[in-house]
Amino acid sequence: MVNLSWEKKKISTIDIENLKEEFIDKFKLIEEISYHNKNKDPIYFNDDSWKNLLFWADNKQVLAFLLNSFEEKIDLIYIDPPFFTGDDFHIKVSMDGNKFETIAYSDYWNKDLNSYVQMLYERISLFKHLLSNKGLLFIHLDWHAVHYIKLILDEIFGKERFINHIIWHYYNKYSAGKRNLPRAHDDILVYSKTKNYTFNEIRIPREKPRKQLKRKMVDGVLKNVKDKNGHVIYRLVSDKKLDDVWKIPCLQPASKQWTGFPNQKHHKLIERIINLGSNKKDIIADFFCGSGTSLLAAEKLDRRWIGCDISKYAIYLTRKRILEYHKNFLEKGRKFYPFQIKTIPNKEKDEILKSGFFSEDLELKRKK
Ligand SMILES: C[S@@+](CC[C@H](N)C(=O)[O-])C[C@H]1O[C@@H](n2cnc3c(N)ncnc32)[C@H](O)[C@@H]1O
Repeated sequence: MVNLSWEKKKISTIDIENLKEEFIDKFKLIEEISYHNKNKDPIYFNDDSWKNLLFWADNKQVLAFLLNSFEEKIDLIYIDPPFFTGDDFHIKVSMDGNKFETIAYSDYWNKDLNSYVQMLYERISLFKHLLSNKGLLFIHLDWHAVHYIKLILDEIFGKERFINHIIWHYYNKYSAGKRNLPRAHDDILVYSKTKNYTFNEIRIPREKPRKQLKRKMVDGVLKNVKDKNGHVIYRLVSDKKLDDVWKIPCLQPASKQWTGFPNQKHHKLIERIINLGSNKKDIIADFFCGSGTSLLAAEKLDRRWIGCDISKYAIYLTRKRILEYHKNFLEKGRKFYPFQIKTIPNKEKDEILKSGFFSEDLELKRKK
């Protein structure tokens, strides 16, 4: 076993019981959104008492809080954390006629890889406690840090629990490269909690249909099927099994899904991940949810979800996207789980809530 060591590595021998106790009553409800028809009957799924959860907080605190009721309960965790780019990501905001520029999220780390690696190490250790026995973890990174985090995942989950290294190949993002090849992919590492993880086969269309020998299994051996004259038989196949290189474009500003949040991921990418690694009613979590792409995908695909982000702009966009989606589909008779927004209150957050920030009409644009 090769282990990764870094300066000031704090071995994650987490005292789970202490963590649970410390955070058990820290989070307070800010808002609960549910729907009623004219007779005041709830029109959300009432087959259980589930409520989707959106946390506005540092995810380390949220993970500690969730240990109280979600240990081994989450079926799929997808995270798209900062990539260790050394940049801050800015947005332009228009609010009440005022325009200003602010940081949507920071990926600066004082350019110190130690603190970045330590941050993910602590969170990944907690993910393992929350994943269910059929659970999968998808960690989305790029060339800046993926090789370090792969070793951390091997250490925490065990090398034998490594499932795939998915290459998301995008072909529509400009990348300069004078002394290196232009970079055109992100990396998604997949690990499972146990051997019995959910994994659904996905087939995708081929660019051109292909002639393939017809085969069948005979006594455990794959054999060519022949006609009565002994000739092999061909069939035309127009799809193929999805492999680990996914060609999906980067989201463009012209898309209806575009929110202006920096590094928003394409919904097709996230929907594919959720379809691959979970089933209806499973619990999906994203602890770096940004504009809420994964939570919206979970909602569309009939999964239950838990989301978290430290940025008020991320929570604003996630709330807004989910509400808009509900509005469109409630009219068509679809039922939704209620959802709750929770935080650990402090003076700054109280001010933001008092100002009605989450129901403002903001316009966000990514600053290039
Ligand atoms: C790359 S963005 C996620 C984008 C998202 N996948 C989307 O489609 O919009 C990374 C997010 O991680 C959040 N983040 C960074 N550190 C965090 C922390 N400690 N706790 C919670 N969220 C954090 C940032 O605020 C940012 O919204």
